[in-house]
Amino acid sequence: MFVRLWHRSFYIHDLLAIGLLITLIVYLALPFRFASHYEYIDGSRIEAALIPQVTRNISLQEVFECRYVEILEENRFVYNLAHYHEAVHRQEEIRPGGEFRPEQCQARYSTAIIVPYRQREEQLHAFLTYMHNYLRQQLIHYRIFLIEQFDHKPFNRAMLFNIGAQVAAEYGFPCLVLHDVDLLPLNSGQMYACTELPRHMCSALDHWRFRLPYRGLFGGVVSINTVQFQQINGMSNLYHGWGGEDDDLYERLLAMGIDICRFAPEFSEYTMLKHKPERPNENRVALLRAAALRQHSDGLNSLVYKEVERRMHSLFTHVLVET
Ligand SMILES: *[C@@H]1O[C@H](CO)[C@@H](O)[C@H](O)[C@H]1NC(C)=O
Repeated sequence: MFVRLWHRSFYIHDLLAIGLLITLIVYLALPFRFASHYEYIDGSRIEAALIPQVTRNISLQEVFECRYVEILEENRFVYNLAHYHEAVHRQEEIRPGGEFRPEQCQARYSTAIIVPYRQREEQLHAFLTYMHNYLRQQLIHYRIFLIEQFDHKPFNRAMLFNIGAQVAAEYGFPCLVLHDVDLLPLNSGQMYACTELPRHMCSALDHWRFRLPYRGLFGGVVSINTVQFQQINGMSNLYHGWGGEDDDLYERLLAMGIDICRFAPEFSEYTMLKHKPERPNENRVALLRAAALRQHSDGLNSLVYKEVERRMHSLFTHVLVET
């Protein structure tokens, strides 16, 4: 009798242990494991947080200023709108080079959207179609710069951002959005304009179950004032291959005493388009360790590349470079 009881209780303990083990495995294996709450700017404070800044030729436009309060109040889920994905509507509104400015009012924000790129045709097509439909409803002035790495070396995403920032500065853009081609915004009110502090825009990504995996995540889609990007000497040019460069950027900001910000989650939802994983950069941990030390010698001031071609495509400014 005693033995049987003992066995029985052992059996229950066993089940408990297995249950705990499974919980632990799930906890470790799933991406929301570090889910943390974070501070954010809520909807009612977004407009005040955006910096009104435009390129020179927009400031000369003689019409009344666009209104943004309705766009923010109306913030809604737009990713399910089929017509946003089908085709670029009213394409005649878009200037060669993928530039748009509203005609009926003067935009308050000028934004250069910088997209590093190599061999992702399908995603690029989906990105351009959706983004031009999405961005025009925000009544901002913007231009899409596609920076394509033309050589066969490992992909150097951060260097392509540096090149894009330099090209965008040539056109006088005061605000940069550093944007991966595989990420698309879901909410109409995620304004593509700059805040006082650099902003992590895709803080509620479906890939991470709409949670933020860690507070120092500062990649995917971020906005930063052109002047701030120059102050931190841009990004590192040394990250060849996948990973690390975003954390390096965050280290640079910290080292300069620049904090980051985010909008409320209902403004910050993004989806990630599916693709094959990239080859990781084996050096990324070592590079990251010395991020702050290299900051002043590795970045915009050490940027060397060859511009192979710059072409005004109907939907983007295409800059082909050798790194
Ligand atoms: C503003 O001027 C730049 C050249 O400096 C030009 O590339 C751009 O298309 C102009 N934009 C608008 C909206 O007029």
